[in-house]
Amino acid sequence: PLIAVLNGPNLNLLGLREPEIYGIQTLDDLEAVCAEAAEPLGLAIDFRQTNGEGELITWVQECRGRAAGIIINPAGYSHTSVALMDALHAVDLPVIEVHLSNIFTREAFRHHSYISMAARGVICGLGFTGYRLALQAIADIVEQEA
Ligand code: DQA
Repeated sequence: PLIAVLNGPNLNLLGLREPEIYGIQTLDDLEAVCAEAAEPLGLAIDFRQTNGEGELITWVQECRGRAAGIIINPAGYSHTSVALMDALHAVDLPVIEVHLSNIFTREAFRHHSYISMAARGVICGLGFTGYRLALQAIADIVEQEA
């Protein structure tokens, strides 16, 4: 099964961006961690990042009939994007939302995510480990619902 691992705005700057919050590892390092975790689970991954809200929505739409599930870190759009939530509802696939940081220990505006309303589960605060756990969870969901 193919799993889309979609990353939103500013995650291209991982390693440079607020390293005290997001760590010193890069987006390429994150992709490598995901590829390594996916392989023994029998999952193929399509790992992507965009700064564009519209592009993220188009990618979600394109998952229909193509991917078995979606892991998404919507970054800043988590807290603003009704349109991205609508796309995730429309595509009708299992969705797991991941945040590297613990959004609940941060500013109040980060405590609400529109995307959570379209997600089976949400993982936050565990850094790259959150993506590995999300892959594990989606493998279980895909297997159980096959
Ligand atoms: C983030 C948390 C968001 O609040 C923030 O806007 C991000 C990254 C995270 O992975 O911790 O860009 O999604």
